[in-house]
Amino acid sequence: MNNKKLVIVSNRLPVSININEDEFSFTKSAGGLATGLDSLSDELEKIWVGWAGIHTSDKDLKEKINTAFVEKDLYPIFFEEQLFEGYYEGFSNKIIWPHFHYFTQYTTYEEAYYEAYKTVNEIFAEELIKILKGDEMVWIHDYHLMLLPKLIRHKFPNISIGFFLHIPFPSYEIFRTLPWRNDLLTGVLGADLVGFHTFGYMRHFLSSVYNILGYENDFGIINIHDRLVHADVFPMGIDYDKFAFPDIKSVSKVFEIKENLPEARIILSVDRLDYTKGIPQRIKAFDAFLERYPEYLGKVYLVLVAVPSRTNVGHYKELKDEIETLIGRINGKYAQFRWTPIKYFYRNFNFEELVQLYQASDVAMITPLRDGMNLIAKEYVASRQDGKGVLVLSEMAGASFELIDALMVNPQNTNHVVEVLARALEMNPKEQELRIRNLQRRVKENNVQTWANTFIDEQLKISMMQKEKL
Ligand code: G6P
Repeated sequence: MNNKKLVIVSNRLPVSININEDEFSFTKSAGGLATGLDSLSDELEKIWVGWAGIHTSDKDLKEKINTAFVEKDLYPIFFEEQLFEGYYEGFSNKIIWPHFHYFTQYTTYEEAYYEAYKTVNEIFAEELIKILKGDEMVWIHDYHLMLLPKLIRHKFPNISIGFFLHIPFPSYEIFRTLPWRNDLLTGVLGADLVGFHTFGYMRHFLSSVYNILGYENDFGIINIHDRLVHADVFPMGIDYDKFAFPDIKSVSKVFEIKENLPEARIILSVDRLDYTKGIPQRIKAFDAFLERYPEYLGKVYLVLVAVPSRTNVGHYKELKDEIETLIGRINGKYAQFRWTPIKYFYRNFNFEELVQLYQASDVAMITPLRDGMNLIAKEYVASRQDGKGVLVLSEMAGASFELIDALMVNPQNTNHVVEVLARALEMNPKEQELRIRNLQRRVKENNVQTWANTFIDEQLKISMMQKEKL
C-alpha cells in the first residue's frame, strides 16, 4: 500500500461527544465499522467525516467541539436541526429505510424530505471539498449519503471513491417505484467501487441500473461513458477475537435471570427496536411454542433485548407499544409465581453484559423479516467458544448466506419457527458443537478486518487501473 490518505464518510462518526459544562468527553461507538477501519494498514493515513452528533447555534461551542474532534482526526459537520430532521428522520428513515427493506407500506413519498436529503448531501460535499486535494481515497458509507459520490466526482473527476451500502438493495420492481430513483442511482454511480453484503443485493442494483438508466454491465463492471464502475460483494464481519476472547472485568447481573430457576433454558433475542427485525412475529412464535409444548412452561425464558432506536419516527413508537402489549399479554397468560416467560429489556447493553448474555443463552433467535447482514448472529457464534448454543437464523438476513450451519427459518412461517425452536432446545451437545465450530470458522475468517482490507485493496487496485488509463 503506498502512502495514501483514506477519507471515511458516514452519517455518524465513530465516537459521540458528551458535553458537561466546559468539559468534553467522547464515547466510542460499539459499531464494527470503526474496528474494521482501525485494522487497516498504518501506512494509510485515515480521517473520518460525519455529523457532529449534536445541534447548536453557538459559534464558540461549535469551534471548541471542532477542535476537540479534529485532534482525533475526526471532522464533524453541523446542521440546522430542522434540515437534519428532514434528511435523517425523513428521507433516510421514512423513505429509504422502509423501502429498501420491502416495507413499502411505510414509505412516505414526501418531496420536502428529498430536498433536505439533497441539501445535507451537498453540505457533506462542500465540507469534503474543503478537506480534499484530489489524490485521496474516499470511502462513503450507507444509505444516508447516496448522492455524495456523484457530488465529489463532479469536483474531482479522477479521485478514488468507494461506496458501501450496509442495508439491502431491493429488487428492481420495488426500487423503481421511488420518484427519486434516477438521482439515487446516478449519485451512487459517482463511485468507482460499489460494495454490497450479498450477491443478491448487487444483482438487484445492477438490474435497476440497467432498467432505469440503460447501462449494461459485464460481470459487475458498468461502463458509463468510458468511466468504469465496479460493483462487488463484501460481506461485513465482526471483530472475532473481541467476542471470542472477551476481556470481562465483572460478572454481569444477567446470570440473575435464572436465579429462581437455575435449570431454566434461555432463548435470546437482541435487536434495535425496528420493524424490520420481526420482533412481534418472534414473540407470537414463542407464544405458539408454549401452547404446543406445554412441558416447557416454567422451564424456558425468552430474554428479549430491544435497543431504543429512531424514537422520533412514528412507526418505531407504534412498534414499541405493540411489542409491550404483546409481552404483557403473554406474560399474563402464562405467569407462575416463580416464572414469567418473557424477560424484556428496553435498553442498551454494554459489551461485557452482552457477551455474558450470549454465553448464558441456549438458543439465539435471530429472525428479522429483512436485514442487510445482522452482526448479532455473528457475535453470538463467536462468543460460544464453549462449543454450546444453537443459532436460529432468518433466511431474510444477509448473514444467512454465510452462516449455513444455523437452523434456518422463514420468520413469517410461525408453524415452522415453533418446530425449529423445539429442535434447537432439544439438540444434542455433539450436533451443537459441530454446527457452532463450523459457524465459527466462517465468522473468524470473514471478520471485519478482512472486510475492510478487502474493500480497500480492491478500491486501490481499481484506482491504479483508472490512472493507467489516463
Ligand atoms: C443500520 C444502518 C447504519 C446505522 C444503524 C443504526 O445498521 O445500516 O448506518 O447507523 O442502523 O441506526 P441509526 O439511525 O441510529 O444510525
